[in-house]
Amino acid sequence: MSEFYQKILENNKRWVAEKTKDDPEFFERLSNGQSPPLLWIGCADSRVPANEITGTLPGEVFVHRNIANMVVHTDMNMLSVLDYAVNVLKVRHVIVCGHYGCGGVKAAMGNHQFGLIDNWIRHIKDVYRFHQQELDSIQDEEMRFNRFVELNVVEQVHDLAKTSIVQNAWEKGQQLWIHGWVYSIKNGLVKDLNVNFGSNAELPDVYKLE
Ligand code: CO
Repeated sequence: MSEFYQKILENNKRWVAEKTKDDPEFFERLSNGQSPPLLWIGCADSRVPANEITGTLPGEVFVHRNIANMVVHTDMNMLSVLDYAVNVLKVRHVIVCGHYGCGGVKAAMGNHQFGLIDNWIRHIKDVYRFHQQELDSIQDEEMRFNRFVELNVVEQVHDLAKTSIVQNAWEKGQQLWIHGWVYSIKNGLVKDLNVNFGSNAELPDVYKLE
């Protein structure tokens, strides 16, 4: 076994010892159930850990991660997580968190084939097409890339609001807010894009479900 593999097993033992030293009932309490106030939809990138970025503890964040933090309406995994979070756990907030330097978004800007993942990346390319005028007008490639990351998050927030799961929760009067963030790998800070949905009122009519 590799040194790394041994290390993470030892880390786990040390973590349990530290947690229970400060708070002997820590695990006992968690084992009684969860009611996290937040669902996090983030990128699978190893540098963007939901709990560490937000200073939250086990039990506070329900997490779904995939390449480029996408909300794809045929993704049973995402839909199941969303349904459980909204209808069973009754989370108050959903945050879609992208990050600058996202490899998935970068791939979507280019034409290189990567294999099976190209079919996932295609959803990100659609975002480029929706915002082609704005993105094409940005001469600096890094600035265009950064803006593409932001617009991708904005679109995923909209896509969440379009789901029947979220619209039905709002219809029932459930308090549920959807937010869009972008995380900077360079300095650790989050930028709130201020695309906050609390009802389907802001959706174009064609997406509104009765
Ligand atoms: Co990424």
